Amino acid sequence: MFLSHRSTQTEYFDLPGRTEGEIAASFRDLNRVNSLFRFSHPFESALPGWLGRKKCERLKILDVGAGTGLLGEILTQWALKQGWHWHFTNLDNNPLALKIGNQPDTVVGSALRLPFADNSFDLVVASQMTHHLTDEQVVTHWREAWRVTRDAVFICDLHRNAGLYALLWFTLRLLRANPSVLADGLISVRRGFQLGEWRELAAQAGIPGAKVWRYHGTRIVLQARKQKP
Ligand SMILES: C[S@@+](CC[C@H](N)C(=O)[O-])C[C@H]1O[C@@H](n2cnc3c(N)ncnc32)[C@H](O)[C@@H]1O
Repeated sequence: MFLSHRSTQTEYFDLPGRTEGEIAASFRDLNRVNSLFRFSHPFESALPGWLGRKKCERLKILDVGAGTGLLGEILTQWALKQGWHWHFTNLDNNPLALKIGNQPDTVVGSALRLPFADNSFDLVVASQMTHHLTDEQVVTHWREAWRVTRDAVFICDLHRNAGLYALLWFTLRLLRANPSVLADGLISVRRGFQLGEWRELAAQAGIPGAKVWRYHGTRIVLQARKQKP
């Protein structure tokens, strides 16, 4: 039945051989949609209460599958307004995405084999990256995120539901998004996740005490800490 299981359809985003122009056009549309849907808001609303304001004063953060690094740019500015210093390392397996974003600290690499020592970051985040992976790869991605954080992981992606599918269909048409971005947006929801699936994958990844929750009906969030607050 529609949306009862994750789709395995490949997104245009993940096709090899795309030109820099095509990739830049896709990220332009994605970043417009991200800004409209305030994709940084789950992080802004949840992190201070969860980690504690003291801890938030200085954070070394890894964004896995950062794309152009827009999330890090927005959250760095937002943290500065709170008087906090957040440093982002943006990792992506697409060097062109990182080049387009032109952020200061970027690393080309795979979410499945992070090129960092154990316990290198205070916080590891991922936004709308996890749905690009198979379930088996998600387990590896989360094991890796858990390995390189010394404290917390906060993973955010799309919740697979008909309401979000309809909302994206309507919004992307209204914005006259590039046809490949429209197709990818809808495939992304079909590749998205439901709560029970993430709880099961977190258990397989060996992340104890993971909390999985739904954000405003559109996103799914996994958060877990190594250190007790
Ligand atoms: C939909 S974009 C999301 C970008 C950004 N995080 C955001 O929230 O808008 C997904 C990103 O994940 C990256 N990606 C997909 N699979 C990856 C992997 N195995 N390792 C690292 N990055 C990956 C893609 O290159 C792309 O930049």
